[in-house]
Amino acid sequence: MVHLGFATLLLGVSVAAHKHTASPKTYHIPSVPPSGPSKAQFAYDGLGADAPKVVPVNSTSFDWWYFDVVSTDPGDLSSVVVTFFTSTATAFPSLDEGGSLTPVRIWGSYPNGTLWEAIGDSGKGATVVADGDSSSGVWHGTGFSWNSTSPSTYTITIDAAELGISGTIDFHSSSPGHLPCGPIEAECTTEVGPRIGWVNPVPDSDASVHLRVNGTHVNFTGAGYHDKNWSDIPFGATFQSWYWGHGRFGPYSIVWFDLLDNDGKEHFSVYLAELEHKTRKLRVASCTAGSVKVRPQPNVYPPHLTTPDPTGYNIAVKDHDYGAGSIDIQATVLLPLVGANPAYTRSFAKLTAEVEGKTYEGTAVLEQFKLRPYGCCSRTNYKIGIPFKHHLPGPK
Ligand SMILES: *[C@@H]1O[C@H](CO)[C@@H](O)[C@H](O)[C@H]1NC(C)=O
Ligand SMILES: *[C@@H]1O[C@H](CO)[C@@H](O)[C@H](O)[C@H]1NC(C)=O
Ligand SMILES: *[C@@H]1O[C@H](CO)[C@@H](O)[C@H](O)[C@H]1NC(C)=O
Ligand SMILES: *[C@@H]1O[C@H](CO)[C@@H](O)[C@H](O)[C@H]1NC(C)=O
Ligand SMILES: *[C@@H]1O[C@H](CO)[C@@H](O)[C@H](O)[C@H]1NC(C)=O
Ligand SMILES: *[C@@H]1O[C@H](CO)[C@@H](O)[C@H](O)[C@H]1NC(C)=O
Repeated sequence: MVHLGFATLLLGVSVAAHKHTASPKTYHIPSVPPSGPSKAQFAYDGLGADAPKVVPVNSTSFDWWYFDVVSTDPGDLSSVVVTFFTSTATAFPSLDEGGSLTPVRIWGSYPNGTLWEAIGDSGKGATVVADGDSSSGVWHGTGFSWNSTSPSTYTITIDAAELGISGTIDFHSSSPGHLPCGPIEAECTTEVGPRIGWVNPVPDSDASVHLRVNGTHVNFTGAGYHDKNWSDIPFGATFQSWYWGHGRFGPYSIVWFDLLDNDGKEHFSVYLAELEHKTRKLRVASCTAGSVKVRPQPNVYPPHLTTPDPTGYNIAVKDHDYGAGSIDIQATVLLPLVGANPAYTRSFAKLTAEVEGKTYEGTAVLEQFKLRPYGCCSRTNYKIGIPFKHHLPGPK
């Protein structure tokens, strides 16, 4: 039996404390990375949660805006993921060799679980406007853009005739955004792991998807999510494995992150909000050791490149800072959302959680990265990109 004592937490009050006094700022991102140094932010400067965090993005840096929606309708396997990248394959090896700095990718699953995907890369660069904590972005020539009227309302608009995709994805959030260790506040760290910047402006939202994919209507509602991550060194340089996911069960919204770095140290971040009178109240936003622990099933940890893909995950949430109780969540993989790949899985999962004697079910999108060759566990044995360069899902 688990007990959830989060009611005593006072975190919610500081959510709106960050100020947005700056005027809108426009960033033009070229399609070819400039030579020379990038400057990356690893402490929040208070000038826009969703603004570019690496300026400029050179060939060994990355910065991207990630969005997804997972259906909350039991039995419906619909999902969609859109990532607006500013990165080349040198910094993020799953991208196409020879692609521009500004590709956009979309992956989806139909209600019956059949997958679809596409890549837009016109080589025409991108423009991002950061206005307070909201933002907009246009990936020129691809037909993909997003905008937001406030941090709680985002719309992705797609008009990509050559890919056969058009429509909109709307996110209406009542869940306060967060950084790895707490609410979005100036000077707080944005490092979720060594040299991995992360901000989560939309941990959960009511999202509706209205797309047409090659003539098929893709209409569904569900839990929508948006984050961004970045670094001034290539992706994967500092860690061996990570578990991330977000989802909803009963009145709760959750985001988890559990990373094992190259020195064998585990890094944690967990977020839990609870729906109360139509708004989601922040209950936990923590990066303390053990605040969340994610383990694959079967439990082979740390995982390495030849470990089979998990059939599920156990996510144990415990917030030591506030003396809260714990919740145990069982995630069962219902559908892998990307093709076979030893380094990476992203899945549609069912959640089962027991909270104060009640059992809740829900859905999640979750992922596992494992970059460590078998038997190899030290920094010196791992070469950036090599183990997974040719395995991450490529374009159709
Ligand atoms: C990119 O910027 C980083 C941080 O300044 C620097 O260490 C790296 O050498 C730069 N990469 C290139 C290819 O210039
Ligand atoms: C699944 O649904 C898609 C979209 O409606 C359809 O094109 C596809 O044929 C279906 N697949 C199966 C196996 O029924
Ligand atoms: C965002 O884009 C949608 C669809 O293109 C549009 O209807 C809406 O007016 C835009 N909102 C803002 C704030 O620009
Ligand atoms: C999907 O939504 C569109 C409007 O965006 C509507 O025209 C269409 O009939 C809907 N299709 C289904 C199958 O619900
Ligand atoms: C749409 O159909 C074309 C032609 O069959 C195919 O190449 C493309 O991959 C499809 N697009 C999507 C998003 O499934
Ligand atoms: C980082 O980026 C990946 C891929 O876009 C995304 O799935 C994940 O949610 C992000 N999260 C963190 C914590 O970096």
